[in-house]
Amino acid sequence: MRSLSGRLAVTYFLVVFLALAALNLLVLGSLESFALNQRTVAAFTSTNIAVNLVEPFYRDGHPTPAHEGHLPDTVRGYAVQSGARVLALDLSGRVVADSYWSESYVGRVLTHPEVAQALAGRSASGRRWLEGSGWVLYTVAPVLQSKQPVGAVFLSSSINDVYEGLAGVARTMLIMSGVALVVATLAGTAVARTITGPVTRLTRAVERMGRGDLGQRVATRGRDEVATLSRAFNEMAARLQEEDERRREFLADVAHELQTPVSAIRAMSEPLAAGREEGGRDYDVETYRDLAREMESEAERLGRLVGDLLDLARLESPAVSLRLEEVDLAGLIEGVVHGLTPQARAAGVILETGSLARVSLLADGLRLEQVFVNLITNGVKYGGAGCRVRVDLERPGDTAVAMVSDTGPGIPAEHLDHIFDRFYRVDRSRSRQGGGTGLGLAIVKRIVELHGGTVTARSRPREGTVFEVSLPAHPGGGAG
Ligand SMILES: Nc1ncnc2c1ncn2[C@@H]1O[C@H](COP(=O)(O)OP(=O)(O)OP(=O)(O)O)[C@@H](O)[C@H]1O
Ligand SMILES: [Mg+2]
Repeated sequence: MRSLSGRLAVTYFLVVFLALAALNLLVLGSLESFALNQRTVAAFTSTNIAVNLVEPFYRDGHPTPAHEGHLPDTVRGYAVQSGARVLALDLSGRVVADSYWSESYVGRVLTHPEVAQALAGRSASGRRWLEGSGWVLYTVAPVLQSKQPVGAVFLSSSINDVYEGLAGVARTMLIMSGVALVVATLAGTAVARTITGPVTRLTRAVERMGRGDLGQRVATRGRDEVATLSRAFNEMAARLQEEDERRREFLADVAHELQTPVSAIRAMSEPLAAGREEGGRDYDVETYRDLAREMESEAERLGRLVGDLLDLARLESPAVSLRLEEVDLAGLIEGVVHGLTPQARAAGVILETGSLARVSLLADGLRLEQVFVNLITNGVKYGGAGCRVRVDLERPGDTAVAMVSDTGPGIPAEHLDHIFDRFYRVDRSRSRQGGGTGLGLAIVKRIVELHGGTVTARSRPREGTVFEVSLPAHPGGGAG
């Protein structure tokens, strides 16, 4: 028996079987001894009455010859009354009177140990199985005169009715035990099933999941250990499925994003290779140059996309490591702002720093630069000509909070939750014209999280957007 449910059911059966068997034996055993005791007590009472009846017929250890004729009548009379065979014995154990006419024992010497004991002065009893008569109970009591045994009375009564009654009780108990055993085994099997059923289902689900089918869920009922396990399995399956879907989506997004510049380059390279327009006229140098320039910018876009993807993959790998150093955050921000000022000026955007608290922290300086380049470039790019982009740095407690705010068009509330997702762009076509890949904020978020910080965005349409980067700073440090 290999299965758990089989083993449980067999164990259940054996335990119930043994318990019932022990109970039956105990009950039948005590019933038997109780009934036999009762019968023995009754038989001794009868024997003693018989002793009293025959005692007057004895003299000097023998029944007197004068009374020998009356003794058998007395014995027979009492036998009818008591329902037992009654024998009177002399001191040598010889039968002197027998209540049975046929097969009379008169003249025979009885050698039963009970007889010897009675003739020695003590009453005795015994049970025998006799061929033809079944179970009989012997009770022998001495006939005493002046406290000396002069003979004995031997009573033999049938106790078959006791055993028949016991057999009836045993039959009833056997039937009831059988029914109880069947019911208990069925109940045990049902209980075993309720335990092993979910385990079996869980095993099948795990096997199917192992083969790649992540949609596996199992039913959970109750609050027992198996139900807890099932719930844990379902949660794990859901997370794996979600993760799998995200990976698929990401792959589809990557393919889609890569396809756009690749098709653009293909569309431009085909006529270039042909060398002439559809009408048949050859391209002039200027057209060649325009097409080549556009191809170059698409290739550049492609390169940036691949670079960003590689960067993100590196940042998301569990083996990513930051090159931690002591960083003066205000100085770092001033440097980035300084570097981006020409670009902002060219776009007609005013880029400035507000109040910068002095904060020093342990961080990867190059990565933090990347964060601020991304955020400031977004402000410049999406704010558009005439807007202002400002960077502030505060230090409440042990956190450094940098804010990059712009007075641009803002981000509609329904998009705000998604802008940190990979490839997410509020206005796809506009962002793509600007060369955006939609990976910038995903990279920002990842870098900030690797530093143990958070980044959030607040925005009001037509008023502008504020990106807030919180980073843990040295306790007490950075005033310098
Ligand atoms: N300051 C901002 N004002 C308005 N919209 C913004 C601002 N910053 C980001 N966005 C919106 O969020 C989207 C996601 O920005 P993200 O930096 O991730 O991508 P991107 O700028 O399009 O591409 P990349 O940064 O990789 O060049 C942008 O496409 C833009 O629609
Ligand atoms: Mg960006």
